[in-house]
Amino acid sequence: MKNQFDYLVIGSGIAGLTFALKAARSGSVAIVTKKDRLETNTNYAQGGIACVVGQDDSFDLHVQDTLEAGDGLCHPEVVDFVVKTGPDRIGDLLALGVAFNRGAEPNSFDLGREGGHSRNRILHAQDMTGRAVEKVLIAAAESDPNIVIFENHMVLDLIVQQQSMKAGSLDLYQKDICRGAYILDIAGEQIHTFVANSVLLCTGGAGKVYLYTSNPDVATGDGLAIAYRAGARLANLEFVQFHPTCLYHPTAKNFLISEAVRGEGGRLIDRRGRAFMEKYHPLGDLAFRDIVARAIDTEMKRTGDDCVFLDISHKGGEFLKERFPNILQKCLSLGIDITKDPIPVVPAAHYMCGGIITNAAGRTTIQNLYAIGECACTGLHGANRLASNSLLEAMVYAHAAALECTGQIQSWRSRSLPEVPDCSERIATQNSSSNEMVMIAHNWDFIRRLMWNYVGIVRTDKRLDLALTHIVQIRAELREHMPNIPLNGDLVELQGLGLVAELIIRCAVRRKESRGLHFNVDHPEKDDSNWLQDTVVRKNPAEEFISTVRFRTDEPASGQGRPLSFLHL
Ligand code: SIN
Repeated sequence: MKNQFDYLVIGSGIAGLTFALKAARSGSVAIVTKKDRLETNTNYAQGGIACVVGQDDSFDLHVQDTLEAGDGLCHPEVVDFVVKTGPDRIGDLLALGVAFNRGAEPNSFDLGREGGHSRNRILHAQDMTGRAVEKVLIAAAESDPNIVIFENHMVLDLIVQQQSMKAGSLDLYQKDICRGAYILDIAGEQIHTFVANSVLLCTGGAGKVYLYTSNPDVATGDGLAIAYRAGARLANLEFVQFHPTCLYHPTAKNFLISEAVRGEGGRLIDRRGRAFMEKYHPLGDLAFRDIVARAIDTEMKRTGDDCVFLDISHKGGEFLKERFPNILQKCLSLGIDITKDPIPVVPAAHYMCGGIITNAAGRTTIQNLYAIGECACTGLHGANRLASNSLLEAMVYAHAAALECTGQIQSWRSRSLPEVPDCSERIATQNSSSNEMVMIAHNWDFIRRLMWNYVGIVRTDKRLDLALTHIVQIRAELREHMPNIPLNGDLVELQGLGLVAELIIRCAVRRKESRGLHFNVDHPEKDDSNWLQDTVVRKNPAEEFISTVRFRTDEPASGQGRPLSFLHL
């Protein structure tokens, strides 16, 4: 049976929900999410949303800070677009009832500061901004009769068909068109076919590709893998952002200590209590994130210590209880009293700056397929994302995509439903039992450790080459043995994780310079004459697999035709 909707949204974070709420005014929306609807990266975002709302701030300053963080690779027209339309999108959230912390003046906000910002411009709801936003958006989606949310549903692959573009009887070229997706109902153990006019990938990040990450378990890079397999272009996957300060504690899993803590005066110190950031950058503790993460890595290697410390105790209990209740409580539950003790911290994988290439409407290189939020590469972040620019980007592009998609809906409705094959065959062959489930756990761990050790904050040619050799071998093994393992969520995630890891490594191998988040000791300098370019990857045997070009954000060309795929890696 086919499920037919006007819009199919994959992911229930800020990008997917913002799009869904706007698109639902014109048609039916399915939101598909692989776990619980609240289990998204958005829900864990602490710091907030960067936006020009302060009296002492300006668009030019926010643009300048974003460009500087991006280290030459931001697309300036995109930075301009996001920064200047940002305040309207904040207005949308306020209208829905998101309660950002207010300032002392009437109609003002309490604005936080994070690394690389020249002004206080982070709107926040204490230290749980993402949770406050997610709660409001989910409540609005739940009460919208045009929106259906499918939990525990995981996308296997997109349904992409080819269409010949003709001039009279002449075939001009073939175009890829996305028609929907095959989706695994994890609880019901069935694969459903979803057909839609517009498909939105809003699947978030890929932090779980690394052993240590600030991301929740769902962040396995699914959207990147799905889009790549479907033939879309991806870019700049070598730029993985490591957050400098994740809690270091044996029982704390993925817990972030927000950069806002340093924005409020927190200082990074070593085990002996010595502050060290001034040695590395004039902005000290509030330098750009790539610089702080590398400095911590250097300090840990130099001293042999397992972590460094972040000290905010001088601000006192009353202030900390009000400003950082979540961090205070979490640390206290682990025996760390941040009003008295410095917090042990280490860097961990946090944000993927590259992703699926999109234009100004969030459209990918495949017709009817859009990518929004962390899984997209719009050109905003360049080689290093400015802190708290990501939720803003997600809202701006969700709005732009909704404008474009809703404009097309009448013509889609007037056409007959495309012929789309179901894929029941896959279930029949996969339901056989297997005693090789250990392969999933082993390779899951192996890939994440490999990425952490060989493709981390500081890279070398040798380690990158070894990583490539290993990942190619692991993926070949998986391809050989996968058909004997029953299809399940873990297997699907592992396939995606392996593919994303290989793409990150290939992009990192390709870039023979150091820029932003990509630091290679064998090529320690930035090389503008050769590498002021994006690294673009695409699955297409007819073309070079990886290239170094400047992608266009005005109108990416439609992808070349390729056959319908189903979990081919
Ligand atoms: C943080 O709160 O430090 C994270 C903010 C971000 O990654 O943008």
